[in-house]
Amino acid sequence: MTAIRTEPGSSPAHDVTDLGLAAEGVRRIEWAEREMPVLRTIRERFATERPLAGLRIGACLHVTTETANLLRALQAGGAEVSIAASNPLSTQDDVAAALVSEYGIPVHARRGEDRDTYYRHLSSVADTHPTLTMDDGCDLVSLLHQDRAQQVKEVIAGTEETTTGVIRLRAMAADGALGYPVIAVNEAQTKHLFDNRYGTGQSTLDGILRATNLLIAGRNIVVAGYGWVGRGIAMRMAGHGGHVAIIEVDPIRALEALMDGYQVMTAGQAAGWADLFITATGNVNVFRREHFEAMRDGAVMANSGHFDAELDLAALRQMAEGHVREVRENVQEFDVGGKRLHLIAEGRLVNLGAAEGHPAAVMDMSFANQALAAEYAVKHRDELENRVYGVPPAIDSEVARLKLLAFGIELDSMTAEQAEYVASWKHGT
Ligand SMILES: NC(=O)c1ccc[n+]([C@@H]2O[C@H](COP(=O)([O-])OP(=O)(O)OC[C@H]3O[C@@H](n4cnc5c(N)ncnc54)[C@H](O)[C@@H]3O)[C@@H](O)[C@H]2O)c1
Repeated sequence: MTAIRTEPGSSPAHDVTDLGLAAEGVRRIEWAEREMPVLRTIRERFATERPLAGLRIGACLHVTTETANLLRALQAGGAEVSIAASNPLSTQDDVAAALVSEYGIPVHARRGEDRDTYYRHLSSVADTHPTLTMDDGCDLVSLLHQDRAQQVKEVIAGTEETTTGVIRLRAMAADGALGYPVIAVNEAQTKHLFDNRYGTGQSTLDGILRATNLLIAGRNIVVAGYGWVGRGIAMRMAGHGGHVAIIEVDPIRALEALMDGYQVMTAGQAAGWADLFITATGNVNVFRREHFEAMRDGAVMANSGHFDAELDLAALRQMAEGHVREVRENVQEFDVGGKRLHLIAEGRLVNLGAAEGHPAAVMDMSFANQALAAEYAVKHRDELENRVYGVPPAIDSEVARLKLLAFGIELDSMTAEQAEYVASWKHGT
């Protein structure tokens, strides 16, 4: 889990798997764009107002069709953009090719890249001397601060997409180590309420089904973590007829899970009970040797948390003593003394490793927040301090307003009498 140290240097203009895949990438990027009306509206405004002119954006995001549409919006706003993947397994190689050949955006990402290549690619983005960073998991911010301290002062601000990244950034800020302001896009309600819950809920189910073709109905399914992601996954698994149990360490969330109708148990109790284990905690080693030992033959494990650290894979590999084989695309079987345990997408984000990640319609809102947060950071650069900021509420409501507008839904507004009533402390029974 310690990052590989990187050296500044001159990097190739791009590094992708196959530029020949570009045409397919363009088709899929355009398909996703149809589901991203909010981001399209922002792109059109950006193209006329050019609020990001002169900015160099270094992005470390999943290289997917939705991200491609975000980068197009940033480019329309006048920014120079380059990108590396935020996970070695999530890159869509056709999208990477399309970004390079059709949209002129330098991409450093290949699906399935090893750890050294992952950090080399991040380093290539750092070589562009970004003036704004856009992260999903805080790896770029962390690389700049640890390996390129002299570059940190060049950065006006950053944005961060996910829960795990925000936790790392807050730890940096608490240590006094954060060298520039970062806007936590994940904190926007129009991000985590929808992306983490509905986006990850649906796409985690999608990844598990694509990888295994399991029937969910009637199965015992344990979801570790009842945060935004865990709630979404549990909801969708239950919707497909699964018997869902939740593992939590937070008593309030455990109680909420119970009253939402799920069983609540410990990891130890769940180990011998469940057929399918899904982690979404942002924590490490939630399931480990003692749990693997208690699991039943045929158990399936998947992770939807940011890092591949939620399952103790080192212990699993040790227990299998080399008896590991790929039984289906994206499914490894660990033979543990005659018992077969299955792991999807190498324990990395299952929705991106074994499916396409979140549907575009939900990323529309997350990435609208990213684009507007970047614009905000540039406009307010003189006021922002070196700490982690939430997304301004005005941006959050604007994203929700635009999304509703795109659905063709009208909202009521309060009458004058109602507005006066809720603003007054004098009214009683
Ligand atoms: N797969 C995706 O596309 C995707 C999308 C959004 C977020 N994420 C990631 O998913 C993870 C969870 O995100 P979230 O927004 O739900 O976070 P959250 O903080 O809302 O929820 C995490 C929950 O896990 C619980 N938890 C922590 N340690 C635990 C343990 N040992 N056992 C059981 N429960 C434990 C916490 O109490 C908390 O309720 C993060 O790593 C986040 O970055 C992934």
